[in-house]
Amino acid sequence: MADGSLDTDSEDEIPAGWEERMTLDGDNYHMAGKGSLKMMELSSMWSFETARSLAFHGAHVVMACRNTMSAQTCRDLILAERPGVKVTVMKIDLASLNSVKEFADQYKQQEWPLHYLICNAAVFGLPYTQTEDGLEATFQVNHLAHFYLTKLLWTQLMTSAPARVIVVSSESHRSADLNILNLSEEKLSPLESGYWDLRAYNLSKLCNLLFSLHLNTLLCRYRVSSVALHPGNMMYTNLQRHWWLYRTIFYFVRPWTKSMQQGAATTVYCAIAPEMQAVGGMYFNNCCRCPPSSAGADDELAKALWDIIMDCLYL
Ligand SMILES: NC(=O)c1ccc[n+]([C@@H]2O[C@H](COP(=O)([O-])OP(=O)(O)OC[C@H]3O[C@@H](n4cnc5c(N)ncnc54)[C@H](OP(=O)(O)O)[C@@H]3O)[C@@H](O)[C@H]2O)c1
Repeated sequence: MADGSLDTDSEDEIPAGWEERMTLDGDNYHMAGKGSLKMMELSSMWSFETARSLAFHGAHVVMACRNTMSAQTCRDLILAERPGVKVTVMKIDLASLNSVKEFADQYKQQEWPLHYLICNAAVFGLPYTQTEDGLEATFQVNHLAHFYLTKLLWTQLMTSAPARVIVVSSESHRSADLNILNLSEEKLSPLESGYWDLRAYNLSKLCNLLFSLHLNTLLCRYRVSSVALHPGNMMYTNLQRHWWLYRTIFYFVRPWTKSMQQGAATTVYCAIAPEMQAVGGMYFNNCCRCPPSSAGADDELAKALWDIIMDCLYL
């Protein structure tokens, strides 16, 4: 657990940028106020709902996106609905570590605080692709780039404490076959001969969970917590765009899957629910704490993965 709980006795003790609010039951709670930021990588549909919801809660939302045109459209839609809210679009391409660094530098130049970093972007079902950094793309986009971004914004998180990193993982982490014995850079970022898109995705989603777990261990003493979550099963977004078969399967299960608002609910819950303020190192599904796979709760594996990624990034 992060030791970031807030004493709600006095208005004077509310951290800068936070405000005191009251629930329908009359209980006080604090949330990030107008001066605070939430940043996320998105422009997909349920992620749009997440941004919309957080902006409506009074946050300045910075949408870090590869496709800034579509992000701009999302921003315009949010502003058309509620003109006073603050939404900023910035460019990031997680398949390029240079782009991640450029984004982080630009963010720091703004001297904005960072109360919530939502690591949301991912790819699924990609044919084998190498990034400009020479790594397998699913691994880099879904895991390594989030790690790098978080490391680059480490100081911003700590100086904005209480702050939280929210990592969007998936229930499919349960199918990953990673353990302390087979963990290696080659396993995480395989060559074409050892690549299978589904395996790469599942592995990256387990890495998301382990990243969140170890990050929380390292930062909770600075009142920066981290949680991971599953947004919903097989929601029809752009995730399955890379292969007609996945598109077809996701299309046919649509009547039984979550709406985009429901998909956003667990992320929004993890960000702003009053009872989440001192919570870290856990995994959530359907707005409830949920036990991850045994690998997903393995502290030793999380630390070993962390060390390998630090080596990959020459950090
Ligand atoms: N859909 C589901 O059923 C489901 C289930 C479990 C977990 N999830 C997780 O939910 C999260 C969001 O997925 P989604 O379903 O909303 O899929 P999505 O519609 O494809 O959204 C993924 C987002 O990631 C962005 N992205 C991809 N590559 C990028 C890159 N190189 N640089 C920057 N951004 C990049 C995409 O941007 P572009 O628009 O530019 O491509 C898109 O905005 C993912 O972490 C996914 O693993 C989804």
